[in-house]
Amino acid sequence: MVCLVPMMPNDGLRYVEEARRIVSEQNEWRGKKTLNLIASENVMSQGAASVYNSDFEHRYAEGEIGERYYEGTRYVDQVEALLDEALKKLFKCAYVNYKPISGAQANLAVFYAYAKPGDSVMSLDVPSGGHISYREFGAAGCRGLNVHDIPFNPSKLEVVLEELRNKVRQVRDKLRIVTLGGSLFLFPHPVREIATILREEAPDQDVVVHYDAAHVLGLIAGGVFQDPLREGANIISSSTHKTFPGPQGGLILAEGLTDKKISAIRKSIFPGLVSNHHLHRLPALLYTTAEMIAFGHQYALQTVRNAKRLAKALDELGFKVLGKEKGYTESHQVAFDASPIGGGTYVATRLAEANIIVNKNLLPGENSKNSKNPSGIRIGVQEITRYGMKEEEMERVAQMMSEVILSKTEPSRVAIEVEKLRAEFPHIGYTFDAIVQG
Ligand SMILES: Cc1ncc(COP(=O)(O)O)c(C=O)c1O
Repeated sequence: MVCLVPMMPNDGLRYVEEARRIVSEQNEWRGKKTLNLIASENVMSQGAASVYNSDFEHRYAEGEIGERYYEGTRYVDQVEALLDEALKKLFKCAYVNYKPISGAQANLAVFYAYAKPGDSVMSLDVPSGGHISYREFGAAGCRGLNVHDIPFNPSKLEVVLEELRNKVRQVRDKLRIVTLGGSLFLFPHPVREIATILREEAPDQDVVVHYDAAHVLGLIAGGVFQDPLREGANIISSSTHKTFPGPQGGLILAEGLTDKKISAIRKSIFPGLVSNHHLHRLPALLYTTAEMIAFGHQYALQTVRNAKRLAKALDELGFKVLGKEKGYTESHQVAFDASPIGGGTYVATRLAEANIIVNKNLLPGENSKNSKNPSGIRIGVQEITRYGMKEEEMERVAQMMSEVILSKTEPSRVAIEVEKLRAEFPHIGYTFDAIVQG
């Protein structure tokens, strides 16, 4: 054993102790005391977590299975072969790539593969739900692309297809990619209709229909949202940790792409954008994929049921919930307009004082300059669904939110109710945990 005298023992130890304290307090607080309603987060099962920290986190494996640039990769090859098989089975697709280490990086890979600087991409603007990575100030801009808005009707919460058709006619010569999907994502996008418009208006341009499934991947896996690859999308990019409850990371799925296009995305990821693809994620991703094959449908179904019930309950209590005419939501998300009750920042921070964690969000039709104090609140129920909460608990969650915001009850009093509710649901469901431990 190497035993050294530390150069600055007191200072060094202070950092060590602080790191341990912070992690322990975070685990206790977020794990036991809060209702996490952030739409982009989730928790891995105990089983997935048990294979997350391993020797893999110290290793490299550049290259492909059986063709690495490093030695010592026998077990990485085994994990990747299984992951390839399991993901293709779950998503019914011919090509998968789990090397991007985040959803934004997966988007950048798509932009690199299928467009060059000066080309155009169409995507939703941020208030309409688009993610920053496919806008001019995000990954699309980093690739030097011109970004055109997909027209969106803020009151109907729908893409305006006839306007889109006109826009495609205007920009068709340089249009290479249309990016669908988003961060505020209540209802499925018209993938089939848009693919048809592109075929009709730009048949010679070979425009790639790209669908960013970061938020809804778990719902797609569970078969309860839309099925983009069957509806005309050529390629899906995603995170692996939002409704899909895996380790943090990125993913590409594709079906029906030519060999040339597959080769382009593969090269844009490695050696383009990723060197080491953070191998410790892979066994946990495999584990979560297996859970989604086994339990994904029940989990996704309950998630959407919960979102609908929470939205209805909030509406009945007096919150201005979006999408009422369309059943509020078809996803894990619920959104409401907080402008009559103090604005997004006020509502989000007040709820956080009661340990109810949500995020403030721009709403469709809103000026994106309001991003520091937007009108909306976005909620996701996927994590509390994983803990086993159902419609009845959604009523209780809505009631607690109403107590804090509408009845102006002291948040610390509501925080006690939040902790009690959490204590009733200590275990993550829709997993093999009980079977594997038993
Ligand atoms: C639609 C969408 N795409 C991509 C991302 C980026 O994902 P990541 O944080 O994994 O880079 C997000 C982030 O929340 C998102 O909402």
